[in-house]
Amino acid sequence: LRHLISAADLSRDDAVLILDTAEEMARVADRPIKKLPTLRGRTVVNLFFEDSTRTRISFEAAEKRLSADVINFAAKGSSVSKGESLKDTAQTLEAMGVDAVVIRHGASGAPYRLATSGWIDAAVVNAGDGTHQHPTQALLDAFTLRRRLIGPDAGLGRDLAGKRVVIVGDILHSRVARSNVDLLHTLGADVVLVAPPTLLPVGVETWPCEVSYDLDSALAACDAVMMLRVQAERMNAAFFPTEREYSRRYGLDGDRMARLPEHAIVMHPGPMVRGMEITADVADSPRCTVVEQVANGVSIRMAVLYLLLGGTEPAV
Ligand code: CP
Repeated sequence: LRHLISAADLSRDDAVLILDTAEEMARVADRPIKKLPTLRGRTVVNLFFEDSTRTRISFEAAEKRLSADVINFAAKGSSVSKGESLKDTAQTLEAMGVDAVVIRHGASGAPYRLATSGWIDAAVVNAGDGTHQHPTQALLDAFTLRRRLIGPDAGLGRDLAGKRVVIVGDILHSRVARSNVDLLHTLGADVVLVAPPTLLPVGVETWPCEVSYDLDSALAACDAVMMLRVQAERMNAAFFPTEREYSRRYGLDGDRMARLPEHAIVMHPGPMVRGMEITADVADSPRCTVVEQVANGVSIRMAVLYLLLGGTEPAV
């Protein structure tokens, strides 16, 4: 792979290689010195046109652990606010000698445009574009599922065949849901989407997954449930039942969590709206992997950057 734009671009073997490489990278976090020399002399720019906490910080941590030189760019406070285009911004960075660009953008397709336009030579990694894709989120979710449901060592070389994952909430606006459906399908898992009809996209019946409106029956037979935030900033009130009605039908509280099979885990990509899609007792329970997902994100992003930039030394 030269770029990572969409989870749909990954074959089963590509995805398993990234997950296995991330297992090696996770061992670095257990060392007294959490650094590898692999990307010494390489420059990575984090180009964020949309807000982020987890993705931005974990890419930066991953780049620093691989000894890359890191440039952070936020659209707020840059010449983008004076009307500078993506092309001119990208070419300004290219002129400074950049090896990889990690981009988050509100417009679906912006990372693809950057990778295919010829404006820059650098590798492009999509850190979330509009409602389209967030491939490193899907990879870190798959990594978390494989570690929890199979095991870090037992999981090496393996996919998620036979595992059942329920994704709940605002599918319509969720790049996380799209990326997860693509990647989990490639890895052999079965996916069930549960959402109010107004928060399902047109054409969802063509996606490689099931759709259900009955959360309780979906929960009774799954290995993991992934709760999504309702993206109020991307919708108007017509889409949305009342907050109370939404929580009652599609929220995960302690009673609902008790209906999950004993081994099943609760996931959330963050940021969470506690009390809306997930209650505080569920978010803070040992079954909830939200913090583990963030830690796993650093290992996955190290693996992606290592594989894309072709480190000259063994990974670990
Ligand atoms: N999961 C995720 O993408 O979170 P941020 O928006 O904080 O990066």
